[in-house]
Amino acid sequence: MIILGIESSCDETSIAVVKDGKEILSNNISSQIDIHREFGGVVPEIASRQHIKNIATILDESLKEANITLDDVDYIGVTYAPGLIGALLVGVSFAKGLSYGHNIPIIPVHHIKGHIYANFVEHNVEVPCIALVVSGGHTNIIYIDENHKFYNLGGTLDDAVGESYDKVARVMGIGYPGGPIVDKMYYEGDKNFLKITEPKVDGYDFSFSGIKTAVINHVNKMKMKGETFKPEDLAASFQGKVVEILSKKVLKAAKEKNVKQILIAGGVAANSLLRSELKAKGEKEGIEVIYPSMKLCTDNAAMIAVAAHYKYMYPNGKDIIAGLNLNGKATLDI
Ligand code: KG4
Ligand code: ZN
Repeated sequence: MIILGIESSCDETSIAVVKDGKEILSNNISSQIDIHREFGGVVPEIASRQHIKNIATILDESLKEANITLDDVDYIGVTYAPGLIGALLVGVSFAKGLSYGHNIPIIPVHHIKGHIYANFVEHNVEVPCIALVVSGGHTNIIYIDENHKFYNLGGTLDDAVGESYDKVARVMGIGYPGGPIVDKMYYEGDKNFLKITEPKVDGYDFSFSGIKTAVINHVNKMKMKGETFKPEDLAASFQGKVVEILSKKVLKAAKEKNVKQILIAGGVAANSLLRSELKAKGEKEGIEVIYPSMKLCTDNAAMIAVAAHYKYMYPNGKDIIAGLNLNGKATLDI
């Protein structure tokens, strides 16, 4: 079964061809990061326009690389939620055009499920399992049952993890997007420099706004006094605390649900400390910690095609094919 994946929920335009939910025949991504960098964040209107400009070329490239034509495509998997509405609509409208013109049914895909299914490409994932979703817009602990039904066990009450990385980096003036820069600086700083108290949050929910504010307050204080600060020490203190909290809660969830695997998903799954620390802690508990290779961590269409494949395999009693009235949705629970 050949699925054409389409992703345009934020600032990456991507089209992929995936065979049988496992074999990536092509996965072309056009990132707009360099365009948005000068604004310090994604500008929605610019993102939509860039998607429109690039999407047809990316389709041509992906089909060519996979050595197929649209006649070979069985289904289109497209991200329809959540994300920037204008950006989502470019992918959804493009998918509908292809569907109508070439008689290819559409399977609508939840972006976060795409991030989770990225793990299924390179690993033997066994359900039930637990997924830790960490991206620019999401921080959730999800339980996936044996029928691939998703249950949200908890999530952030304020900022998403990636969002707080980006905000902390912005205040320190170290660049955009902040995640990868803070991650690198962690190893050059003292993680005990700033004492950050862990917020008291029940169950599997999280709060990152206090941790973020602790760093921001320190930077502002130093600026007011006209003193310099060492961003490496703040990056190390921030990342150390964030990874400690995420690891603790997701391990607790895995033990409570008695699963043997934890999947890390979303852009922050690229974080080197989260990967190594959670893997080491999991090993001690007999829990395998799985994460995608770097290319599949950030937004891409291969993960969307894989998620569409599993939606097809496990429809859970739902009609999974969308009509031409499919719309994008800025927010949607998993
Ligand atoms: O999943 P993603 O590509 O887009 C969303 O759907 O949000 O995630 C982007 C987020 C950004 O906030 C970025 O700073 C963060 O992922 N990120 C990282 C790392 N690489 C990307 N955060 C921490 N450490 C990293 N190495
Ligand atoms: Zn994403």
